[in-house]
Amino acid sequence: MSDRELHVSKIRNGTVIDHVTGGQALNVLSILGIDGSEGLGVSVGMNVSSDRLGRKDVVKVEGRELSQSEVDVISLIAPEATINIIRDYEVVEKNRVDRPDTVIGLLSCPNRNCITTANNEPVETKFTVVDDGVRCSYCGTIIRDSLADHIDPDQ
Ligand code: CTP
Ligand code: ZN
Repeated sequence: MSDRELHVSKIRNGTVIDHVTGGQALNVLSILGIDGSEGLGVSVGMNVSSDRLGRKDVVKVEGRELSQSEVDVISLIAPEATINIIRDYEVVEKNRVDRPDTVIGLLSCPNRNCITTANNEPVETKFTVVDDGVRCSYCGTIIRDSLADHIDPDQ
């Protein structure tokens, strides 16, 4: 690496989300529910050059691994992302994200009358992935963009 390249430090333990679609890093952080107040070490590279993608974002989170629902939602905004698990500075696991058929939990339905939002009994949300977004399996409401704005950490 030449001294003209941006260098973001290696991490010791945690997760590196690499090959994120340029411009999506902050949305990845909101999917993970990270805003800095948790005290986790987080580094973000935005629009760094990539051989494969031209431009990419990179998100490195120390001391945190991801749930399957989090990876599923990330795949919808960053279909080329790779999830690298780091232990003791080594990449011990590297996975490409996969576009899921359904997303269980994590997202909340924007329809106030949906059983998942209106009922006092908590009902876990379920969305089917469709061409133009995700569709609530209970009420049919489609979320087309800004998926990250519909993250509900209680889900
Ligand atoms: N990484 C890190 N800290 C470590 C090890 C790796 O931050 N202790 C980061 C690297 O900077 C890179 C990603 O994790 O962004 C994947 O690391 P590695 O597999 O070594 O890099 P590449 O071979 O370039 O990955 P790929 O083939 O997926 O492009
Ligand atoms: Zn709904």
